[in-house]
Order: sequence, then structure tokens, then C-alpha cells
Amino acid sequence: MSAFTIAVAGKGGVGKTTFSSLAIRHLHQATGDVVLAVDADPNANLHAKLGVTPGRTIGDIREELLAEADKLPAGVSKQEHVDYQIRLALTEGDGFDLLTMGRQEGPGCYCYVNNILRTFVDSLSEKYQFIVIDNEAGMEHLSRRTTRASDVLFIVSDASKAALESASRIASLAGEMDLEIGRIALVRNMVAPSSAGLDRLDGFDAVYSVRNSAAIRSGSVGSESLLEIPEHDPAYQDITKAVDEGRELARR
Ligand SMILES: Nc1ncnc2c1ncn2[C@@H]1O[C@H](COP(=O)(O)OP(=O)(O)OP(=O)(O)O)[C@@H](O)[C@H]1O
Ligand SMILES: [Mg+2]
Repeated sequence: MSAFTIAVAGKGGVGKTTFSSLAIRHLHQATGDVVLAVDADPNANLHAKLGVTPGRTIGDIREELLAEADKLPAGVSKQEHVDYQIRLALTEGDGFDLLTMGRQEGPGCYCYVNNILRTFVDSLSEKYQFIVIDNEAGMEHLSRRTTRASDVLFIVSDASKAALESASRIASLAGEMDLEIGRIALVRNMVAPSSAGLDRLDGFDAVYSVRNSAAIRSGSVGSESLLEIPEHDPAYQDITKAVDEGRELARR
């Protein structure tokens, strides 16, 4: 069985990484499985919210492979070498393994290198029951393989009109492209309890609301890890519900 995969998207600063890290925490707590956490934002910071230091990035490995294509140690095949490098790049945390994608490719011929990397990221993915992908702001990532195959795409928005419009644009583009996305859900983040209640919107299979959390907000000042915020935190509770319902939705 392939992994249940969540991709998280949305405008800048709306709470994608917050949602991703709490979804990772919840999936592990609910199932006991180790979750593959993928930081697909070139400006990586999922590690901070998961309280770990990131290893090397896939971007680093890609550049190195390109630069040293002819210099691999004798007797080691290129595939074995990449496999080993990717394993080194995984950061083990409490209930998750973090893979940081790093920068996108620069100019140069990456097809061969990318194919090797893809094979390994794919075979790595097969070892997990759950994958959560935190994306960069915007919609460029929709054309990347990481977002292309996901069971639920959670598009996060805050209360602003601009963020909601951006979420709708991402959803309609995802709908127009030939993607293997199961369901598309809107996450209205940082909403006041009084504005909760909107639970349907055209273009989305589901709509969830996540309350404002003082613990999360103050966490951005001190330690950023969200693994320590209390179980009963309102935002954590709401994210837990969205993730559980997303799993249900994906099964239908
Ligand atoms: N439910 C919430 N309650 C309170 N604060 C929140 C909530 N969700 C996110 N925040 C705060 O909003 C800010 C942005 O969150 P986050 O970094 O998760 O956004 P992002 O969409 O990943 O941003 P970027 O586009 O830069 O990657 C952070 O300071 C975070 O602590
Ligand atoms: Mg982020």
C-alpha cells in the first residue's frame, strides 16, 4: 500500500509550515508510525518547527552529483552512492524523518541526475505509511512531482481576502492540471471563533477552520518547535480534526 500523502500549499505567511508540523505530530501520535516529513520550500524552515537541525539537502546532493559525475569512488555504483547520500540527508526526529529538498536546480543539464534522485526519493517514500509535504508559497510547486501525487492537498489561507483568492487560484490551477491529487481542502487559518462556520466553498472538497493560538504565536519568539505546545491547544485540535477528516475523505 502506498503512503497516505498530504501536500500543504498557500500564500506566503498563512501558516503552511505550522499546519505541516502539527499534522506530522498528530499522524505519529495517532498511529505510532514514523512520518516522512518533506520540506519542499527552498527557504527551508520546517526543521525549526519540528525542533531539529536539518541535514544536507537534496539540492546539495544534486549539485554535488552534477559536479562530480566522473569522480565517484571505484566499485560504488552511482545509484548506491545516491542512496547512501539520501540516507545521510534524512534527519531523524521524534516520530518523523525529515527530508529537506533545498534549492531548486540552477542552469545545467540535470535530467540524468534528477532521474536518479527521483528513483531514490520514490523508493524512500515506499518505506513510510504517511508523508507530509510543506511547500513554498505560491503555486509553482504544483508542477513538481512532490505535489503532483498527493491524497489531500490542504491549501491554507488566513482571514485576508488576498489569501483566500490565492487559495482559490491554487485550487483551480490544481484542478486544471493533470495532477494525481485526491482531494483539495481549504484551511482557514487563524480565524476568530465567531467567524467559524463556513464549511463549504466552490472549488474545494472540504473547508476547515483553525483557530488562533496564543501558544503558537508566542512560540515564534522563543523556541520555535511546535512539538511542545499542549495537546489541548485550539489550533492543534483543529488541525488534528482536519487531518483525520482528510484521511476519511481520501478513503471515499
Ligand atoms: N493558528 C495559528 N495561531 C497563531 N499563530 C499562527 C497560527 N498559524 C500560524 N501562525 C503564525 O503565523 C506565522 C506564519 O506561519 P508559518 O511560518 O507556518 O507560515 P507559512 O505559510 O509556512 O509561511 P511561508 O510562506 O513563509 O513559508 C508564524 O509566526 C506562526 O507562528
Ligand atoms: Mg513555510
